[in-house]
Amino acid sequence: MLDLLVTNATLPDGRTGMSVAVQSGRITEVTPALTAPARDTVDAAGQLLTPPFCDPHFHMDATLSYGLPRVNESGTLLEGIALWGELKPLLKAEDMIERALAYCDWAVARGLLAIRSHVDTSDPSMLPVQAMLEVKKRVSPYLDLQLVAFPQDGVLRTRGGVDNLKRALDLGVDIVGGIPHFERTMGEGAASVKLLCELAAERGKLVDMHCDETDDPLSRHIETLAFETQRLGLQGRVNGSHCTSMHSMDNYYVSKLIPLIAESGVSVVANPLINITLQGRHDTYPKRRGMTRVPELMAAGVNVAFGHDCVMDPWYGMGSGDMLEVAHMGLHVAQMTSQKGIRACFDAVTGNAAKVMHLEGYGIEAGCDASFVLLQAKDVVEAIRLRANRLKVWRKRELVAQTPEVAAELQVAGRPARVTFAP
Ligand code: FE2
Repeated sequence: MLDLLVTNATLPDGRTGMSVAVQSGRITEVTPALTAPARDTVDAAGQLLTPPFCDPHFHMDATLSYGLPRVNESGTLLEGIALWGELKPLLKAEDMIERALAYCDWAVARGLLAIRSHVDTSDPSMLPVQAMLEVKKRVSPYLDLQLVAFPQDGVLRTRGGVDNLKRALDLGVDIVGGIPHFERTMGEGAASVKLLCELAAERGKLVDMHCDETDDPLSRHIETLAFETQRLGLQGRVNGSHCTSMHSMDNYYVSKLIPLIAESGVSVVANPLINITLQGRHDTYPKRRGMTRVPELMAAGVNVAFGHDCVMDPWYGMGSGDMLEVAHMGLHVAQMTSQKGIRACFDAVTGNAAKVMHLEGYGIEAGCDASFVLLQAKDVVEAIRLRANRLKVWRKRELVAQTPEVAAELQVAGRPARVTFAP
């Protein structure tokens, strides 16, 4: 007998009427119209069954701290960093843990089951690191949390920055981070990329670096990141986050840069909600959008994913852990409005993100983990358009969250609402 059988599901690739069979926490079969005895059978009624959402770029140590000790008035990245600096001496581990756990509940309720979070290693107290390691342990029954050692104030710019980052890795942080555009000079930025990639190679770690999160077209640390990746044989193990300067770079230079990134196997994470909010702040009009060149990178074969980056913190006062909102903003900012483009934006918050995170057992295929989300939508395009309701969320066969269908009771002017419209 099967543990779980989901029938009549639509899959993200467009197949309809599909059954997904589960035994011992894994998918055993994905096939049309399977009938078999199962402990639980769920009729998907033609709705979309997708692998879980994954957020490859987040800051769990700062989340839900909006307004502490004040809000970001200018809306810039730099005021956000200064504000985080004001908040850090006031932080208490218990409060950070509580906020992070609350966010993780929001995430799971929205089918977001894997998050890669940067954690600030600048302070020798290691308070954010210890707090986030505790969160990682506590959420492990229902959410995969990866941690990146992130020297927020610059690994070279901060006294003791390298030692602090190494201590974070020693304590159990998974991935090497960096922030080359925030080092004192371009030269120091490039030196930090080299040093951090060498550290990752020595310790067998992945790399995920905040890279060129600026409107300055001369911020070219992604070039150094791609070069060091190849020099050290780290292909497929390195991610460049943000890369917003690429938006403003000279087109001729980009025509050389993108093939270099593709050749090095470096993936790129754009953060649409944050990039459109923080970038372009020094412009009058026209204002740049500031997001990296997503469709061009994808066309060159680079794995591109979208991250949420921030939710209610010193940099961003909005957000709810909804990766469909991230995809929705991404397709607008990148003007990826064709059917193919919209589907690529869905991939950017599911399969592409899972690839950045090196997740094992991800997908709806035989042999994968029985982790998936039933959405109140007929396909991925409708899922993004409606930021669709997550009806059921399973992780390794366990039902970890569910939300009732909303439209059934919807009333307009005292009568049932016309909730569907087929042109
Ligand atoms: Fe970030």
